Amino acid sequence: GSGLGLGAFGVAALAFLWPGASTGFGGKINVGSVADAQTAIGSKQPFYNATAKTYIVAYPKADLGNAKKVSAYTPPILAGMEAGYVALYQKCVHLGCRVPWCQSSQWFECPCHGSKYNRVGEKKAGPAPRGLDRFALTVAGGNMTIDTGNIQLGPPIGTNTTGQQQEGPLCV
Ligand code: FES
Repeated sequence: GSGLGLGAFGVAALAFLWPGASTGFGGKINVGSVADAQTAIGSKQPFYNATAKTYIVAYPKADLGNAKKVSAYTPPILAGMEAGYVALYQKCVHLGCRVPWCQSSQWFECPCHGSKYNRVGEKKAGPAPRGLDRFALTVAGGNMTIDTGNIQLGPPIGTNTTGQQQEGPLCV
């Protein structure tokens, strides 16, 4: 009995000491192919990965110059933007509700207290204290990997690098 317990402990310890081996939330997650992401983005929707609890959205190349002026956009986040994408954590930065996508407004809108974020997760309205938190994203071999072990805080209120306005009726 105790031998079995120690074995299980050893496996858990090894997983802890070797974070690269983790594939669940809290580790590096292959969220899918660029082709599948482009299919979702082509229908004006984010590409969602449930394991990563993350929306992948496109970042417009034309706005990279604006993004580089925002100190909250750290080098790992900018690298993802330069590859054309942003990985947004679904958890509202107000009190933690899951924020759904609103197809008509083309914004993320939180049903709990009405915080709203534009397509790239910059705060537009409501009580949220900043934009949506996010993860570093890399593209290799046609697949996207994000690092959910290192939450990068969203940009401050007032950040508006893309100028994207509400595109239709709000959901909330
Ligand atoms: Fe999203 Fe309060 S938890 S607005």
